[in-house]
Amino acid sequence: MTATGVTVTDQDGVRHVVLDRPDKKNALTGAMYGVLADAVHSAERDDVGALLLTARGDTFTAGNDLRDFLDAPPQNDSAPVIRFLLALATTDVPLVAAVRGAAVGVGTTLLLHCDLVYAAPSARFMVPFVDLGLVPEAASSVLLPRRIGRARAGAALFLGEAIDAQRAYDEGIVTKLVEDGALDATAEAAARAIAAKPRQAVRQTKRLVSHDREAIVATIARESAAFRERLASDEARAAMTAFFTRGR
Ligand code: COA
Repeated sequence: MTATGVTVTDQDGVRHVVLDRPDKKNALTGAMYGVLADAVHSAERDDVGALLLTARGDTFTAGNDLRDFLDAPPQNDSAPVIRFLLALATTDVPLVAAVRGAAVGVGTTLLLHCDLVYAAPSARFMVPFVDLGLVPEAASSVLLPRRIGRARAGAALFLGEAIDAQRAYDEGIVTKLVEDGALDATAEAAARAIAAKPRQAVRQTKRLVSHDREAIVATIARESAAFRERLASDEARAAMTAFFTRGR
């Protein structure tokens, strides 16, 4: 594990970003969001051809670090988590992800901003915001219903039902299912292939694909105001505290 829990390295035009906090199932702290935000934000300037997001261990990410949410909740839109979400929504650099195991909360919602998502059969996608007394983030209140249909998004958002790898593929959250042993190499090959293509054509294509950025950014702002309010609520604090006292 690294000091911040995220490693960032550039190779052959690909920026490799690895979630590296496996002992806590890659739960994302404010410090990790800060590194992620900078890695995505500076990719254009650094002439990165594609950004590859992977994770160490058996879990893509358990989502926001709930201890961090209890002790140091984001205060405003300059919080690292919001900077990260806005960078994801506005970058011109294609984003490629490889997912194995659970992708909880932001672990799933960040994927809705990715251009290619490879998943192992073990991948499970969950957005249990309501169960935690919270609301959706990363524009997922709009992007998830748009991607999989409102009725199916309802089961994920309101019931907290997990979406397994096959369903995620069938419903267009995942580009391709890949056996576990070939997952990282497949995602890396895709990122390298994009990085080798005409850079400006790739960037312009990305801008065209994400033509509704302004609306997405406005959605992130709307959600984050509600999210901050919810984080301070008794409902949320009780649910998050319960996670740490389960089974005791
Ligand atoms: N925040 C902080 N710590 C977390 C965490 C989170 N979101 N998710 C896991 N951890 C920690 C656990 O507290 C545990 O720490 P410990 O070893 O010091 O007790 C460690 O990571 C391993 O987690 P554990 O729950 O034992 O692993 P698991 O394999 O049984 O389950 C998950 C994995 C991801 C399904 C489960 O940890 C989980 O549901 N996490 C919470 C997900 C969540 O609600 N995220 C917020 C979304 S907004």
